[in-house]
Amino acid sequence: SSNIVIAIDGPAGAGKSTIARNLAISLNLKYLDTGAMYRAIALYVLHKDIDPQDKDCVKSVLKKVNLDIKTKSNGNNLVFLNNQEITDEIRQPEVSKAVSYIAENFAVREFLVEMQRKIGRDGAVLDGRDIGTRIFPNADFKFYLTASIEERTQRRLCDLLKEGYNTTYNEVKQELLRRDEIDQNRTYSPLRMAEDAILLDTTNMTQKEVLSKLLERVEGHE
Ligand code: C5P
Repeated sequence: SSNIVIAIDGPAGAGKSTIARNLAISLNLKYLDTGAMYRAIALYVLHKDIDPQDKDCVKSVLKKVNLDIKTKSNGNNLVFLNNQEITDEIRQPEVSKAVSYIAENFAVREFLVEMQRKIGRDGAVLDGRDIGTRIFPNADFKFYLTASIEERTQRRLCDLLKEGYNTTYNEVKQELLRRDEIDQNRTYSPLRMAEDAILLDTTNMTQKEVLSKLLERVEGHE
């Protein structure tokens, strides 16, 4: 399974990154969290006090953004922005609020497309919104993971509370809905299920069950 490419797309909070990371470990593949790259740019923009919706201004600072993703032995992605590690910072709620505006920006998407293809081309599991539709339209396997909004809210709420953020069920729910709405309706590479993707509703599944479903598909077809 050395150079297969696996695309995992879906809405926010569907559990993509955990599954993608575990799938990558099981198959001895690289894992790339493409959402982390959009988040890193969002963090840079916020640090510079730039309005995330100011497309020209965001575009003009991209040349100052030097992104680097390293993989830890547990499969986690370490994210570096201009040589500074920002792995934890990019999970802040302020970044989650701004990131979908950053991701609507054509210049930002073009900036990341080639990086993502380069990292993934020799084999990887990539998770995001447009992996199966735009980054790797010829991926060996495409999965579209989703879950009910209630379940996605519950999971994300639990993660945030564990990490020490003070938030509520309703706040998280509104945030996920808002982000999905922007991601699905943007002009460039909107969130869509690829026609040849395998749809998996994980609402009533454990992570272990989801992982074995995906492994079954991949290992049964190699
Ligand atoms: O995956 P995560 O929720 O961290 O992604 C953060 C945001 O980055 C998404 O809401 C979306 O706006 C953007 N994104 C994207 N395309 C990707 C991955 C993420 O537009 N491939």
